[in-house]
Amino acid sequence: RTAQAVIVAIDGPSGTGKSSTSKAVAAKLGLSYLDTGAQYRAITWWMVSNDIDITDPSAIAAVAGKPEIVSGTDPAEPTITVDGTDVAGPIRTQEVTSKVSAVSAVPEVRARITELQRALAASAPAGIVVEGRDIGTTVLPDADLKIFLTASPEARAARRSGELKGADINATREALVKRDAADSSRKTSPLAKADDAVEVDTSDLTLQQVIECVVTLVEEKRAAA
Ligand code: DC
Repeated sequence: RTAQAVIVAIDGPSGTGKSSTSKAVAAKLGLSYLDTGAQYRAITWWMVSNDIDITDPSAIAAVAGKPEIVSGTDPAEPTITVDGTDVAGPIRTQEVTSKVSAVSAVPEVRARITELQRALAASAPAGIVVEGRDIGTTVLPDADLKIFLTASPEARAARRSGELKGADINATREALVKRDAADSSRKTSPLAKADDAVEVDTSDLTLQQVIECVVTLVEEKRAAA
């Protein structure tokens, strides 16, 4: 990495605009981009495809090292493969979404994925924007900038049902609140704001405003470095 390389951690619950923001910020600043949720979804997809009993953490732990998960970190075209198969589509199904919290709570899964994340961050030539739940607290505690995005449950559900065209907004809100509660209460590196993270409430901001806010914060960090 160059001396100018910058590591940005963006954490927060679902529906806060994390992915859209992270991708746009990375593209704008010429940084790599990593969607860590996609990695947890990919390993969950593999577990489901291989009929692993996901109600049994020891069954998950026993095979956590098996699938080879590869993330492409170009923000213009992020990719994700499992054992060479493109899984960008299948990891977004309702089935994977409903099972990802259980799989990602298993410590052996987190250790494996965290290792991949640190290797990608260390090898990004100009730096990287990494989005997830535990990036600022656990994966990259020395990140140059940590952002924690929040939004009201109503705003988050409205955004998610916009993405999942025609989905019922109340059901979407319930599923989202349930997944966040599971992600926040798990033992191993839960969804949490790092003490030194900048919190941005996106409820009343447009995506463009959130992107500008984060870009400004990165530029301030770079100027101070
Ligand atoms: O960001 P997403 O909705 O695609 O994330 C899917 C799930 O992956 C989320 O419910 C919890 C898990 N996850 C995690 O445990 N740690 C991360 N750093 C990112 C995601």
